[in-house]
Amino acid sequence: MQQDLAKKAAGEMAATFIQPGMTVGLGTGSTAYYTIMRIGELVRDGLQLQAVATSEQSEQLAREQQIPIVSFSEVSRIDIDIDGADEADEQLRLIKGGGGALLREKIIAAAASEMIVVMDESKLVKQLGKFPLPVEVVPFAWELTFKKLTELGAAPVMRKKDNKVFITDNGNYILDCHYEKISDPAVLHQQLNSTPGVVDNGLFLSYANKLIIGYADGSVRSLSR
Ligand code: 5RP
Repeated sequence: MQQDLAKKAAGEMAATFIQPGMTVGLGTGSTAYYTIMRIGELVRDGLQLQAVATSEQSEQLAREQQIPIVSFSEVSRIDIDIDGADEADEQLRLIKGGGGALLREKIIAAAASEMIVVMDESKLVKQLGKFPLPVEVVPFAWELTFKKLTELGAAPVMRKKDNKVFITDNGNYILDCHYEKISDPAVLHQQLNSTPGVVDNGLFLSYANKLIIGYADGSVRSLSR
C-alpha cells in the first residue's frame, strides 16, 4: 500500500539519527513499527544501543527483534525518542494516542533529549483537531469525568475495541474527544489535565524537535523546531 511505503520511508529514516551507545525510546503504532524493525536490523548488524518502549506491544516487538530493552531503573538518560503521531502542525505540535499509548509516550517524550516524529503526509495539518483527541481517564467514576468533559465541550466517546471497553497498558480508559478544530491547544491541554479523573491527554505541544514526513513515492522531508 502507498501509505505503508510512506510510513516505512519515514520510520526507517529516523533510525539514521541513532548513534552507538544511545538509549532510545521506541514509539508505538504502524509507523514506529518500521523504526523498530530497522533498529532491529542495525542491532543484529552490531550497533550497540539500549532501548525503552512506550507500550507493551512495542516492547514485545523490540524483544522479538533482539533489541536490548532496559528497565527504567537502569536508565540515566533517554537520548532520542522516535514515535508516530495522529496529527502534527507546522509548529510541531501533535495529537497522539490513536493507539492508546499516549501516557507512556508522553512520559518518555518528556524524559528524552530529542523527540523525532515519524508520519506519513496525511498527518500534517494546518490546525489540530480533526483527529479526535484521546484523553486517558481512570476507571473510577469515569461517568462523572465523562460528564465534566462534555460540559467542557469535548463530545467524548468511550473507546472500544472488539465491542469491549478499551483498556490502556496502565489499566485506564480512553475517551476520544471530538472538537473538529482546536483553536488554542495550550489552553485545552491545561483545561483537560486539571479535570479530576483525567490522567493525561494526547496533546504533545512542546516535545517534538523534528518531524520526518514520508510520501507515497518513498521520499521524505523533515521539519525541525
Ligand atoms: C499511539 C500513537 C501513535 O503514535 C499514533 O497513533 C500514530 O500511529 P500510526 O503510525 O499507526 O498512524 O500515538 O498511541
